[in-house]
Amino acid sequence: MDELVEYLESRGELALVEREVDPRFELAAVAVALQKQSEDAVLFRKVGGTKFPVVANVYGSHRRLCAMIGAGERSFAERWLELTEGRQSNPAPFAPAAACEPHVECTLGDLPQITYHARDGAPYFTSAIYLAKDPDTGTPNLSFHRSMYVSDGELRVRLGSTHDLASYQARAEARGEPLEAALILGASPALFLAACASLPIDDSEIDLAGRIAGRPLEMRRCHSIDLEVPVDASIVVEGRFLPNVKRPEGPFGEFMGNYVEVGDNHVFEVTAVTHRPGAVFNALVCGSTDDLRPLEAVTAARVYRHLRNTVPGVLDVSCRPNVMITIVRIRKQYEGHGKHVILAALGSYLDYNKVVIVVDEDVDIYNLEDVMWAYLTRGRADTRAMILNDIPGFYRDPMKDHWGRLAIDATMPWGREAEFARKHVPGADSIDLSEYLA
Ligand SMILES: Cc1cc2nc3c(=O)[nH]c(=O)nc-3n(C[C@H](O)[C@H](O)[C@H](O)COP(=O)(O)O)c2cc1C
Repeated sequence: MDELVEYLESRGELALVEREVDPRFELAAVAVALQKQSEDAVLFRKVGGTKFPVVANVYGSHRRLCAMIGAGERSFAERWLELTEGRQSNPAPFAPAAACEPHVECTLGDLPQITYHARDGAPYFTSAIYLAKDPDTGTPNLSFHRSMYVSDGELRVRLGSTHDLASYQARAEARGEPLEAALILGASPALFLAACASLPIDDSEIDLAGRIAGRPLEMRRCHSIDLEVPVDASIVVEGRFLPNVKRPEGPFGEFMGNYVEVGDNHVFEVTAVTHRPGAVFNALVCGSTDDLRPLEAVTAARVYRHLRNTVPGVLDVSCRPNVMITIVRIRKQYEGHGKHVILAALGSYLDYNKVVIVVDEDVDIYNLEDVMWAYLTRGRADTRAMILNDIPGFYRDPMKDHWGRLAIDATMPWGREAEFARKHVPGADSIDLSEYLA
């Protein structure tokens, strides 16, 4: 994380806040207000109650995510598949981690205690990446799980049932054993992005982080548990998930934009906390662009992989403004092509994909206004939109709020391309306004 701050600063993509901010609401308020103005990250040098500086808004830029994985001229999805399928490594866009330094011990209470939303039940660690090993095979996995601060010895964690960590914990619990894990706060971009991935359960996400970084990660032993963590992790919380123990966690302002109420969730017993000298803590406002952009990017890549193997002409996929929508950009090749793409997209990821929209290759799929322009101007409203009733959606949805699908073929009519070609003003994209404005 510390190298990341230097990298962002050198690219002029880091705003600085020198005055002290309150970790209760004020830090999150500044981060969210800044997101409305720019895609820059922000470093808070002084945060009340802690000696750790805090960086936020690191991952809220699709352009920066592409740079982090070395996408070059390719889409995020195309490059991501090369990395996740093990076909290529990255030519390391970041400086390698500093050599193994002595790690300093501290307590959980020394870390920034950030409360993000009005009704959050306690301070939360939201950039919380858990590293754990499969109890049967030893394969390491990385995944995010928001963690509620209870005391220096205890965090409460909701382990989503579809995640590998939930399966590891359940198998350890079946043997009556705790599951050891390391919580990384302030990860390198490579580790952060690898934690976003859902690889097959036998594939190592530490190896993926190495491919994203362009070199195998240098690891060190934990102090109190039988695990290795990357030496460049800024802060590491060591501990174990207790078997057969659940305690109240929440409420918390979730990524969908509303609160999740108090529920009985897992207990993580903290056994040690260590940090690198000069460590920077990573804050992340759940459901803001800092959270959504990386989740969207990896979700879109998953849909892209399925489409690429099923239908021709698929150029790129986005999920804006969040993962409940899939927008597909195609080079249309035959009448009805858009509808074939809709069919394939609907089957690509059953949890999400509540709305699928297909557009022509000249439409900006990262701009919903442009996508809606295509639907509104390039054909009929009725025959290009389809509602599929009573299809189950999001996996934990007892009220069926995410059932049903809407699919829109917003491509132009086949054979009438000249009529629907987009007009443009020559020079408008390249003009230097300072030469004209007083
Ligand atoms: C920034 C970020 C934060 C996330 N936070 C959570 C979380 O708090 N709880 C959760 O269940 N999933 C969360 N997720 C989703 C998953 O943890 C994550 O996508 C991961 O890939 C799941 O890993 P696995 O499939 O290897 O188990 C988050 C994803 C991102 C990108």
